[in-house]
Amino acid sequence: MRAAFGDARVYYAMKANPNLSLLRRLAAAGVGAECVSPGEIARAEKAGLRGDRLIVNGPAKSASEYAAGARLGATFIVDRAEEVGLLPPASRALVRVNPALEVSTHDHLATGAAGSKFGVTLAQAPEVLDALRAAGHTALGLHVHIGSAIRDAHDFTAAFGRLTELRALTGPLAVLDAGGGWGLDADLPGIAREARAAADAFGAELWVEPGRYLVARSGTLLTRVVGTKRTGRNFALVDAGMTELLRPMLYGAAHPVTPLWAGEPAGVWDLAGPACESGDLLARDVALPAPVPGALLAVGEAGAYGASMSSSYLTRARPAEALYEGGGWRCIRRRETPEDVWRAEVETGEDTGG
Ligand code: LLP
Repeated sequence: MRAAFGDARVYYAMKANPNLSLLRRLAAAGVGAECVSPGEIARAEKAGLRGDRLIVNGPAKSASEYAAGARLGATFIVDRAEEVGLLPPASRALVRVNPALEVSTHDHLATGAAGSKFGVTLAQAPEVLDALRAAGHTALGLHVHIGSAIRDAHDFTAAFGRLTELRALTGPLAVLDAGGGWGLDADLPGIAREARAAADAFGAELWVEPGRYLVARSGTLLTRVVGTKRTGRNFALVDAGMTELLRPMLYGAAHPVTPLWAGEPAGVWDLAGPACESGDLLARDVALPAPVPGALLAVGEAGAYGASMSSSYLTRARPAEALYEGGGWRCIRRRETPEDVWRAEVETGEDTGG
């Protein structure tokens, strides 16, 4: 990423994987954070990220996010004109622009289409910058994020092109934030070139907000074979599923699967999780040696939006997370227990203390 983007300022989109051990390492590497919830802001603070290392974003920010962002000196992404009046006094802000483009990704992951809930229109952007200045804020510049897991670099060319057309109306700006969204196989040098050209057109510093690209391939979900079932299809029943990795169910995402036992391929198998839902499949049509109960499978590209989108549905306790570093493993999240899952619940009649 550095080879492609040079000295662009990096704000890690921590929604991809917010584990504190990871955040601390990224912070030590000079990376800032993009946050979209009170909890993410609290994590950033814990990892020592504040001031010009912190962006507070989101389409429906709460009062607590404005307050925490102000206390930490964050830059706010303004997502609608009405937010100008909600920002804490003398805030630093970028205006998120929706370039109204169809992009090459799953519908749920497209954020820059005309009908999406994000950003202000191209026509509104110059007015919102002016309104920020008139209200005593620092209008740093523009922000654009057209979606996630985008396969075709031309989508970025189109988006940055539309933004650049605003130059005549906005004049020079201090910052252009080109967002994230780079698919794992995307042409990164190509995207970086276009982003840099757009920033140059405004005389602006370039900021980026990668999530997936930084962490997806660094993470693997390990799951164990519980048994098999042959109906019309071959099922390998495994002990992880939608609660640990939701992406196959939610987006039809295909994650690479590697069996960690030896043998000749013995047909194709669907990896079925333990949940009582038909959609709870981790993968379909994977060539595997005959599955053996107890054997392990590695599900790849799980470092982004894996653990961070896990749930405790079915009172399933989340698995442990481990980090490989300096030739050894260390636990960076202990395995949950069922008690962890119900800890915040209050039984009728208990005194809550308010
Ligand atoms: N900046 C903004 C404003 C974003 O909304 C996002 C992601 C990013 C940066 C980082 O995007 P990335 O580089 O990771 O594509 N749960 C989905 C992904 C949702 C991404 C939401 N916003 C998934 O599992 O694919």
